[in-house]
Amino acid sequence: VKRSRPEVVTEEIEILLSERAARTGEPPINYMMEKALGNPDLISLAAGFVDYATLPVKEVSQVVTEILSDPEAGRAALQYGTTQGLESLRKKVLKRLIDADGVGRGAAGYDTAHTLVTTGSQQLLYLLSEVLLDAGDIAILEHPSYWVFMGALRTSGVRCVTVPLDEQGMRADLLEEKLAALERSGDLPRLKLIYTMSYYQNPTGTLISDERRSELMKVMKAYSRKAPFYVIEDAAYRELRYHGKDIASLKSRDADGKMVCYLGTFSKPFSPGLKTGYGLLPESLVGPVLRFKGNHDFGSTNFAQHVIDRVMGTALFENHVQELCDAYRVKCDATVKALEKYMPAGVQIMHPLGGLYVWLTLPEGVETGPDSALFEAALQSGVLYVPGEFFYPVEGDIPAERNQMRLSFGVGSPERIREGIQRLSGAVRQVCGQ
Ligand SMILES: Cc1ncc(COP(=O)(O)O)c(C=O)c1O
Repeated sequence: VKRSRPEVVTEEIEILLSERAARTGEPPINYMMEKALGNPDLISLAAGFVDYATLPVKEVSQVVTEILSDPEAGRAALQYGTTQGLESLRKKVLKRLIDADGVGRGAAGYDTAHTLVTTGSQQLLYLLSEVLLDAGDIAILEHPSYWVFMGALRTSGVRCVTVPLDEQGMRADLLEEKLAALERSGDLPRLKLIYTMSYYQNPTGTLISDERRSELMKVMKAYSRKAPFYVIEDAAYRELRYHGKDIASLKSRDADGKMVCYLGTFSKPFSPGLKTGYGLLPESLVGPVLRFKGNHDFGSTNFAQHVIDRVMGTALFENHVQELCDAYRVKCDATVKALEKYMPAGVQIMHPLGGLYVWLTLPEGVETGPDSALFEAALQSGVLYVPGEFFYPVEGDIPAERNQMRLSFGVGSPERIREGIQRLSGAVRQVCGQ
């Protein structure tokens, strides 16, 4: 059999690699990590890590002691679990979501049988890409979008179509335009998924407003009646809410429960080290995803699930989320305040209401990429940011913007963040000649 040439070929890639492996590029995050590790004095505003000081050492120590001091509970936690995940945890996850969405028990699609626990929400994103996508299929994403999921999409060989955002989230009018164009070109049947981060998007921090959610659902439903596709609602940052009210998910607006996959995680609101996420899937996807997950690992770490199940069974979890939000609110506000104070005129700042990120747009023509004068000037000043172009697909239908950056206030103290922003603003002024 003659092998066709992979799309992305570098000299080191051997012919034995699969086409999927050959399409899989180096994640930009590796490059950023290298830069950060090389200079210990560097203030990193790049990593999406959570705050060290708020990690739940006390809570986890308490429940681990409880588990291991009861031999029966200890053995249950140290044994293999099931592919779908611990049932009592799935029930708690579902109940919490039912309460947050205000849908009432028995709402279409809100069912323990459709709920699964995964190794972070990242695993579920990847499993969905494997279950749904063949090379040449189409995925619609926000413009910009989450870089790690875009890596998985690249591996799948899909065509990415992107929809710009405004302060209220993905533009429903532009989504409709893109869907209409796909229909006109006869490509609508190749659309498999629309991916959206409805709460404090990574990287822009945007929360999709209540009104926009209704508009988006109307457009999505109308087109999914012409050719079915799934919507992946990634709610990784939902709990990290510092200002304003929680808004019911897109999932809760999916009247028959057949279109929206809801993905959540314990990484951001509790502990990334436990790497436990979850999803609520339309019934049609539960079997296919579980079969793939069975091939991957036949179950995520059982011990971590038992720990989280105990934490969720008491007030520990909600109290922790509360403490976390109080701590992040201070850092989020300090970040925005410092940016407003130190950045030169002409730098646009997106004010987030939650999440871990602040998104900046620099004046037209001021490039932020890894080879730009600004990136170098920032490194020289001892500060690291993530270039905005990393958040656009390599081969999207709209070119990547080159004058943006993502800053994270997750790790640093308010003082360190302020210092980092002062350094960064100095670099921006230097490059802009101000
Ligand atoms: C938008 C988004 N989705 C999903 C994830 C995956 O997180 P985890 O696998 O730890 O749940 C992240 C992590 O940064 C993220 O930013």
